Amino acid sequence: MPKTLASSLKSAPLVTSPLRFWHRGQVMNPGNVPPDRTLLDLLREDLRLTATKEGCAAGDCGACTVVVAEAKDGRLQYRAVNSCIKPAHAIGGLALWTAADLAQKDGTLHPVQQAMVACHGSQCGFCTPGFVMSLFALYQRTVAQGQAVDKHSAHEALSGNLCRCTGYRPIVQAACSLQADATQAVDEKPIVAALQKLVAPAKTDGDYQRPSTLPGLLQARAQHPQAQLIAGATDAGLWITQGLRRMPQIIDLTRVGELRRVEHYPHHIAIGAAVNLQDAFEALAKDRPVIAPFGERFAGWPVRQSGTLGGNVANGSPIGDSMPLLIALGAQLVLMAWRNINGKGRAVHRHVPLDRFYTGYRQSLLAPDEVLAWIVVPRPASGEWLGAYKVSKRQEDDISAVCLSVQLQVEGGWIKSARIGAGGVAATPARAVKTEAALIGQPWNEATLQAAQGAIADEFSPLSDLRASADYRRQILGQLLRRAWLESTGHTTVRLEAFA
Ligand SMILES: Cc1cc2nc3c(=O)[nH]c(=O)nc-3n(C[C@H](O)[C@H](O)[C@H](O)COP(=O)(O)OP(=O)(O)OC[C@H]3O[C@@H](n4cnc5c(N)ncnc54)[C@H](O)[C@@H]3O)c2cc1C
Ligand code: FES
Ligand code: FES
Repeated sequence: MPKTLASSLKSAPLVTSPLRFWHRGQVMNPGNVPPDRTLLDLLREDLRLTATKEGCAAGDCGACTVVVAEAKDGRLQYRAVNSCIKPAHAIGGLALWTAADLAQKDGTLHPVQQAMVACHGSQCGFCTPGFVMSLFALYQRTVAQGQAVDKHSAHEALSGNLCRCTGYRPIVQAACSLQADATQAVDEKPIVAALQKLVAPAKTDGDYQRPSTLPGLLQARAQHPQAQLIAGATDAGLWITQGLRRMPQIIDLTRVGELRRVEHYPHHIAIGAAVNLQDAFEALAKDRPVIAPFGERFAGWPVRQSGTLGGNVANGSPIGDSMPLLIALGAQLVLMAWRNINGKGRAVHRHVPLDRFYTGYRQSLLAPDEVLAWIVVPRPASGEWLGAYKVSKRQEDDISAVCLSVQLQVEGGWIKSARIGAGGVAATPARAVKTEAALIGQPWNEATLQAAQGAIADEFSPLSDLRASADYRRQILGQLLRRAWLESTGHTTVRLEAFA
């Protein structure tokens, strides 16, 4: 358990919130909103704010993109989010902008709208509001801070927006035409002041609980093991909109202060379960830069800004992207619960290596009263080599057919250690122990590579589905091992990301 956490684990009251958020200069209080009502439905159907559109209702297309901001250290932090899969209550205490909120009262367009008009980027009425909102978030994060927009940040900001019919070039051009100019930046002071007044009263019987402390979260979990625990809801939101599942009670862990931190120690980093994917990949990439382009292949910007690393791991999808990487890195999980010990409620924790966490298809060692609190990742030992690969049909915003991560320690041409994590090839994210055994202690040459390719083809029995056939998956595993061999021995590096 991270050291700073131990001191904070005293009993604390639960805090739940009625839904209140800032919008267009005022605090909105839409009354009794069911816990599983989506933000999009709240906007369009309850509040009749129809500028935000529905395309896929699955977080894929970006038509429903809105921008939310949270007050931190006297400033606002902006995120573009998919309102279709976000529970409305998740924006309690935040500020919200939709596509109808950007132009001035006299009709003067916001700079991002003007840029879209000037570059002929405006397309149909479904995708355009979403593109505009992603550009607005980009504007606030870069242009309003005095920075110009480059092509990479434009692509990143638009990576969660799809157009099914025309093209992206004029929209990217509109993004890149934004000048570093803060004149239209949001006046944050009054909004920060308004958000500070939205601190919720304590309430312990809510249908949507949003505890702000770790003891509060653990107690809520202990008292309501049947409630749906959510983080960014980028998986769970789809169970509502696609699976038509009702969630009469939700515990949202994204405001738990202790779990929103990344803690750095000499031998490991500890990533809190409420840290979003973007921040988590950035933290991991500080020690291992090769993780940065891999992280950019995970979904698109809005999903990475809402979804958490903890949610990816806890959800346990066999095609989840982070787990093969974390398995190769030797990550451990800290699972926590609030238990009655000698008549007294106390936080307890246990460490579980990630490669032993999954027990079957979407099943894990997590007990009903437990939460995943931290993901602990060892820092690189000297001489470590790491490859992290994702194979999917699209570069961005796509689920992988196969993921492979390879961590090697090679000394004098001999493999001292190997850890390999694989995704998309078994019922769970898996460690390739037999392939590791074929590598360890061997010279890192063509013969060993071929033996390892044979071992990895035998080690897994992937399925055929709409993403790839079993045969393709088995072959690609071997080819990714070859890529690791080529890259780690300095033969050649071919990266799709390097092509403009
Ligand atoms: C458009 C789109 C693209 C996507 N692309 C990818 C992709 O490229 N790669 C990929 O791997 N995934 C992808 N996903 C899936 C999803 O974004 C990830 O799995 C994400 O990490 C889930 O995190 P979350 O915080 O949103 O989890 P949630 O949806 O909030 O929760 C998911 C599950 O995990 C449980 N859970 C969450 N946090 C905890 C915790 N701390 N302790 C215990 N249980 C917990 C919840 O109870 C729930 O059962 C995509 C999803 C969408 C909508
Ligand atoms: S409607 Fe497609 S992402 Fe929300
Ligand atoms: S989806 Fe709007 S123009 Fe293609």
